[in-house]
Amino acid sequence: MASIRRIAVNTGGGDAPGLNAVIRAVAISAANRGWECYGIREGFNGIFFPERYAEGGVVRLTRDAVRGIAHLGGTIIGTTNKGNPLHFPLRMPDGTVKEVDRSEEILEFFARKEIDALVSIGGDGSLTIADALAQKGLRVIGVPKTIDNDLDKTATTFGFDTAVAFATECLDRLHSTAQSHQRIMVVEVMGRYAGWIAMHAGISGGAHAILIPEIPFDIDKVAAKVRERDSQGRSYTLVMVAEGANPTDGQRAVLAPAEIGHAERLGGIGERVAKVLAERTGKDARTVVLGHLLRGGSPTTFDRLAALRFGAAAVRALDEGQSGIMVALGYRGVDYVPLAEVAGHMKAVPLDCDTLATGRDLGISFGD
Ligand code: F6P
Repeated sequence: MASIRRIAVNTGGGDAPGLNAVIRAVAISAANRGWECYGIREGFNGIFFPERYAEGGVVRLTRDAVRGIAHLGGTIIGTTNKGNPLHFPLRMPDGTVKEVDRSEEILEFFARKEIDALVSIGGDGSLTIADALAQKGLRVIGVPKTIDNDLDKTATTFGFDTAVAFATECLDRLHSTAQSHQRIMVVEVMGRYAGWIAMHAGISGGAHAILIPEIPFDIDKVAAKVRERDSQGRSYTLVMVAEGANPTDGQRAVLAPAEIGHAERLGGIGERVAKVLAERTGKDARTVVLGHLLRGGSPTTFDRLAALRFGAAAVRALDEGQSGIMVALGYRGVDYVPLAEVAGHMKAVPLDCDTLATGRDLGISFGD
């Protein structure tokens, strides 16, 4: 492989605490090898729409540009979860929207600017794009990011630990108010079609029922849990529900359907659960939706270190001549796994995992 002089980095999909730490590690590890590093604005928008950005769609990431950012939430180069370049929504003169593949424009951009490789930080959508670009000949290394922890072939993604820590703290705070008012408190958390955040925070924060997409729930079983607690003199119940949870007799709650280049938006299951539980138990119920609060704030030490390790490992991988791989957290350290083995493979909560068994052993209801 030709030697590297310039690399680019981008961030795609929902933001997650730790993105800036990856960017910092990539930029500094590149600078230490004598390579220039550039950041592409908002996914690939900086390439497609450079006129939108006063300082240019692609910015030089010098050491100064990445100073003091490892602890900051968000991403200094911006992100987007709209406009997948492989299925880009193009508005036609008659107002209809047509799907086009803009990946060739990305390859042309890299060739024209003599940028030798891309470090693409993202979740399943972004890593699927990264895989497609690698197959078309671009040198690409993927870095796994998502608060949802639903990416396969890595023990965890950065952002997850921070989201779980925050959700757990929220549960800690809700115990006292729920107990004081003898209420049911339903806490809805993000996670898309996986229940990782709900399960980890729910067990850690002492939820009495946890509803996750992997286990369709029977609301009567949850109501029975509330009554059981009442009969034992524990007249309040905390229910943790993942946004993608499904009732056995109904549908998952969707706020907005999928559009070209953008996945469906989930949300609203918490309010539904609270309403039915109030009806069936005669108790007061309130809902708290943690939503995008889970994506903000400083990364925990675990996420910060994972992000720095991933960023540095991505540059080492390029230096070793790797391409078409994702850096992943393995048992002994960072591993390389082919992007093709990650793209399109969601990691759901395994029904035989010990964390779930722990919840059951502690008497938590999973609504089944
Ligand atoms: O994938 C991260 C995530 O936060 C999901 O948990 C959630 O369903 C989705 O993104 C929300 O996306 P948006 O930023 O479009 O509201």
